[in-house]
Amino acid sequence: MCGIVGFTGGKQAAPVILDGLTKLEYRGYDSAGVAVSDKDGTIDIVKAKGKLKVLGDLTDGGKKLKGLCGIGHTRWATHGEPSENNAHPHCNDEKTIVAVHNGIIENFTPLKEKLMRRGYTFYSETDTEVATKLVDYYYKKYGEPLRAISEFALHVRGSYALAVLFKDYPGKIFAIRKDSPMVIGYTDGGAYLASDVPAILKYTRNIYYTDNHDIVLLSEKGVTFYNLDREEIKKDATVISWDAEAAEKGGWEHFMLKEIHEQPEVVKNTVNYFLHDGKLDLSELNLSEEYLKDIGSIIITGCGSAYHVGVVAQYVLEDLARIPVRVEIASEFRYRKPVLSGKELVIVISQSGETADSLAALREMKQNGVKTLAIVNVLGSSIAREADSVFYTKAGPEISVATTKAYSAQLIAMYLIALKLAKVRGAVAGEYYATLKKELTLLPEKIEKTLALKEEVQKFASQMMDKKDVFFIGRGIDYAVSIESSLKLKEISYIHSEAYAAGELKHGTISLIEDGTLVLGILTQKNLIEKTVSNLVETASRGAYVAVLASEKAEGIPEKFERIFRIPETDEHFFASLAVIAMQLFAYYLSVLRGNDVDKPRNLAKSVTVE
Ligand code: F6R
Repeated sequence: MCGIVGFTGGKQAAPVILDGLTKLEYRGYDSAGVAVSDKDGTIDIVKAKGKLKVLGDLTDGGKKLKGLCGIGHTRWATHGEPSENNAHPHCNDEKTIVAVHNGIIENFTPLKEKLMRRGYTFYSETDTEVATKLVDYYYKKYGEPLRAISEFALHVRGSYALAVLFKDYPGKIFAIRKDSPMVIGYTDGGAYLASDVPAILKYTRNIYYTDNHDIVLLSEKGVTFYNLDREEIKKDATVISWDAEAAEKGGWEHFMLKEIHEQPEVVKNTVNYFLHDGKLDLSELNLSEEYLKDIGSIIITGCGSAYHVGVVAQYVLEDLARIPVRVEIASEFRYRKPVLSGKELVIVISQSGETADSLAALREMKQNGVKTLAIVNVLGSSIAREADSVFYTKAGPEISVATTKAYSAQLIAMYLIALKLAKVRGAVAGEYYATLKKELTLLPEKIEKTLALKEEVQKFASQMMDKKDVFFIGRGIDYAVSIESSLKLKEISYIHSEAYAAGELKHGTISLIEDGTLVLGILTQKNLIEKTVSNLVETASRGAYVAVLASEKAEGIPEKFERIFRIPETDEHFFASLAVIAMQLFAYYLSVLRGNDVDKPRNLAKSVTVE
């Protein structure tokens, strides 16, 4: 969702910026622009609606724009339609102040009115033009860029990562952020700014994660940080351990396919990091055993697939650790007034760590004095920094908009937490505890075996590509996998789909089943297979085309079902980790067959930093 890149240093800025923006394409965008300043500070702006290629063609890959300092942006429209006019960068009337912005200025209407009363006019519908002109107003008032930026921060409400060029300060980029991601990188050759690490990883591994209200001054000589009082502050850089290749396609046709195949490795990394020599070590989370014993209940919250992990975890945690669990969609939960006892542990799940609603839910809970634990993939992200404890998943950078490997890593995080709780609360017998730990270490090879279904799944997808409606049904954990499978299918194939708790179908939705409707049953939970089979038979009797995904040893599946896919056996609590793989492949192949942009599905953004 909007991407920002900036560079100042010893080489032409525009090609670096365009290259960086291509690494942020996964975030989703509908227009793009770049601004470059030359030695005397004169700023050139080029913008274009559509893909970065259009901007690249206009500027000959950036070569036509001369200057060693610049900022660029990919825009995902919020205020105003996608158009060249609304695209960033935006500028003041004299083109002496030029800015790019990611986020939403919530009070942009009163600010705009205030600026209009002072004689400002506006050429676009964007909140960013308002932000730029607000900086201009304070710059003209106080004659000093740091002051202008801090006044901006004091007067706006909302979220922003804002990078500004001032004609009077050639070679310098001024930036500030609040609730929108911004990382800073440096080398001998210059300083970089970006919404996410992959954009600049090719040039530097030395990354500063900025905090809310950090003001940053980037120049050829280095990077300086200030607080809102314009006092210099010290920050420590992190050296990124993964390399740029991890964020490249590396020969795969799509990032999604690459990331699906990375799952055995990702699961292995996350399991092995916390479980070695048979010992489960979650000390990194700083949650004492006394505290874990004393938790009254768990509330899990997140959005989309992260929420779906919570639904799986609810079954696992309740069953293994015998602790009450509630799962809440973050965008709903943040506006509720839940009755809290203070003994809850709130677990916020987020790949990006920047999802606006999940972050808001976390803050809401912290304000209520409830302890929070984040399960996050992106190092240094807002949710990771604000939560009381963090469980970092080891999925590496996830580029495809549709999550796969981060979902799998989040499941592992939840299993490990469930095991820890089960152990300290004495809810699991020693022998079974050992079996579960062992089973976790076997998951990577079982995921690998599940991936071997891909040709079969691809063939099946080619037979199903004209379906208009698909139903996923299951009970218990199989239901939890159904909701994720349905989301995956919808978001990248654009085929309508529903996920239903199998027993719920006949309470209304079965009326939608027609001749040929595809119903996919998930059958991994031994005690529930018979029940779900009955529900599948009910749909088959009404003309449905029934296919099932079942564990190797699942019995009692009628031969009349059209297709049966088998996945390896595992402990019943961990089946989601295998079943979801086949469903990800199904969604992927259908999307490819239908000619869709798999990694960047329409209307979607990777990191949803607006409400
Ligand atoms: C679906 C998907 C989304 C995300 C959701 C939360 O494939 O990727 O539903 O799961 O937007 O994002 P994070 O995990 O970054 O908070």
